[in-house]
Amino acid sequence: MRLQTLEEFLEATGRSCWPTNAYVKVPGFKELYVRRTDRFLGDVLIKGVLDIARAEATRPGKGVFTALVTDLLERGIPLYIECVQNKRFVKKLESMGFTRAAHEGAPSFFKLPSSKMNLIGTTSGRFSVKGPNLSNPPRMEDE
Ligand SMILES: CC(C)(COP(=O)(O)OP(=O)(O)OC[C@H]1O[C@@H](n2cnc3c(N)ncnc32)[C@H](O)[C@@H]1OP(=O)(O)O)[C@@H](O)C(=O)NCCC(=O)NCCS
Repeated sequence: MRLQTLEEFLEATGRSCWPTNAYVKVPGFKELYVRRTDRFLGDVLIKGVLDIARAEATRPGKGVFTALVTDLLERGIPLYIECVQNKRFVKKLESMGFTRAAHEGAPSFFKLPSSKMNLIGTTSGRFSVKGPNLSNPPRMEDE
């Protein structure tokens, strides 16, 4: 079965399509498993977060992860890196400005885009990012 590309996944979940999780194909990665979620990060509900739940580079240390997250953040996509087991990578994420999420077990990290281009107001008076309404997904028979 052909893996969809990350672009295809983002395009589909941007239209509130299922599934909201998938292994996706990205040049430079042996494996990348992502999910679209709405999450409380800090005390703010952020919509349309891209979770990176598993990542393995084809050739670690060649900058593909840094390039990917930089591109996604510049495009206004909030990121959540889930359950980071690798202590060296924890330090790397912190140095890139990621914040450790309140979480038990292996730490997870998030970073919000600095650009306000795609941001909309929320009832909390802060912001969230435009994204799919995951609380009301389409039913399977609608597809
Ligand atoms: C973690 C990983 C996905 C990052 O992708 P990448 O393209 O290598 O990352 P970049 O080159 O943009 O950034 C380099 C950072 O990756 C991490 N890294 C690089 N090579 C690594 C290796 N052989 N093993 C573990 N982590 C490594 C380091 O934190 C490094 O930053 P540092 O040198 O400042 O400590 C990739 O290194 C990898 O696949 N590592 C092995 C699998 C793994 O640990 N996955 C867990 C992710 S939660």
